[in-house]
Amino acid sequence: MKVLVVGSGGREHALVWKLAQSQKVTEIFCAPGNGGIAQMARCVPVSAEDIDGLLGFAQKNTIDLTIVGPEVSLALGIVDIFQDAGLRIFGPDKKAAALEGSKVFMKDLLAKYNIPSAQYASFTDRDQAMAYVDKIGVPLVVKADGLAAGKGVIVCQELSEAREAVDLVMTQRAFGDAGNEVIIEEFLPGEEASFIAFTDGTTVLPLPTSQDHKAVYDGDTGPNTGGMGAYSPAPVVTPELHAQVMETVMMATVKALEAEGCPYKGMLYAGLMIRDGKAKVLEFNCRFGDPEAQPLLMRLNNDLVDVVEAVIDGNLASITLDIDPRPTVCVVMASGGYPGSYTKGYAISGLDEAAGEQDVVVFHAGTTVKDGSLVNTGGRVLGVTAIDADLANAINKAYAVVDMIHWQDCYFRRDIGQKALRRTNS
Ligand code: AMP
Ligand code: GLY
Repeated sequence: MKVLVVGSGGREHALVWKLAQSQKVTEIFCAPGNGGIAQMARCVPVSAEDIDGLLGFAQKNTIDLTIVGPEVSLALGIVDIFQDAGLRIFGPDKKAAALEGSKVFMKDLLAKYNIPSAQYASFTDRDQAMAYVDKIGVPLVVKADGLAAGKGVIVCQELSEAREAVDLVMTQRAFGDAGNEVIIEEFLPGEEASFIAFTDGTTVLPLPTSQDHKAVYDGDTGPNTGGMGAYSPAPVVTPELHAQVMETVMMATVKALEAEGCPYKGMLYAGLMIRDGKAKVLEFNCRFGDPEAQPLLMRLNNDLVDVVEAVIDGNLASITLDIDPRPTVCVVMASGGYPGSYTKGYAISGLDEAAGEQDVVVFHAGTTVKDGSLVNTGGRVLGVTAIDADLANAINKAYAVVDMIHWQDCYFRRDIGQKALRRTNS
């Protein structure tokens, strides 16, 4: 079977790595891929946003199965377009992908079906949004409706910040049309967790829980990033809470989407805020998380192709997930300056030595090969992911490999997994 993976991040490297272990897969292509992916798949120079280009490639090369990593391809309708052309593809169609593509659609759906989430109001008019901000006061959260590469959410502790955030989105249009509409939302305190599941629109099969580290600096301080590291499982999600989330969030959302005429197939990712043993939905994503995919796929023993095909064919009920009980930890190594500006093109050393380590995989994100050596080309560069029966050992293994790898100005957090460790030890 020939498989095409769409995307170029650490998540896509993890997907390619997992597919490479499948007995069913004979050839893997990745569009556009990265320096690490190129070592195990054929990278194709077509952007994840060039849907016509991807379709042309898949048809010409008789691709049997396409797996989509990033949300933008899904929001552009890649699934509808591939299916219309008779190609097999994994992910929600354009209508269902609005769950991530439009926060107003998502919030209205959750409100209509009583799925727990923060109180909110949505506005297309800047003055009305401002008046609402003044009325409810801080803390609050301002969110651009559409996709904004993870930057369209502004948590505001001061009224001046909140007013500036509304103007940033609606007047300065920092996120373009994504800011045509804005959500002003109640601030939820608590601890976050990622709840990521396969669904065929009827059955929901959850992967283990995980937790991302969004803030750039240790102790969850500094601006938000795409994610500086992740681990699985997330002990903040107790078995009771897990059952509650499955029923009141995951199943409820799948049923709500079906009732609204947009049945959902693919990865369903609920970003949760947990407090006092209760979970509320912060966001839905319609894809694997990045970096969560790296520690999650490392724990999945099933052939990924079997699970993905069962989703496409609507018989996910026939699958049982086989999960490695050992915890996993992924430490993201980033370019210094990220999530702000950073310098690209520095040679990365230590990767050969790292490759010799057992139970550790170095997933690539922003890397490319230049003049024969791997260099950094993105904000998030590598995701060093380790597995061990003991969480503390998994953390130590990951950091031992992180310490082998270097390039100029490279940056990483030192405290990935510490929150889980504290919970496990308490
Ligand atoms: P989102 O993309 O909506 O998940 O937002 C990105 C990040 O902003 C989340 O992971 C949270 O850290 C934070 N956030 C979003 N909404 C809220 C909220 N209502 N209360 C507190 N923090 C939030
Ligand atoms: N790790 C957060 C995300 O994938 O959106």
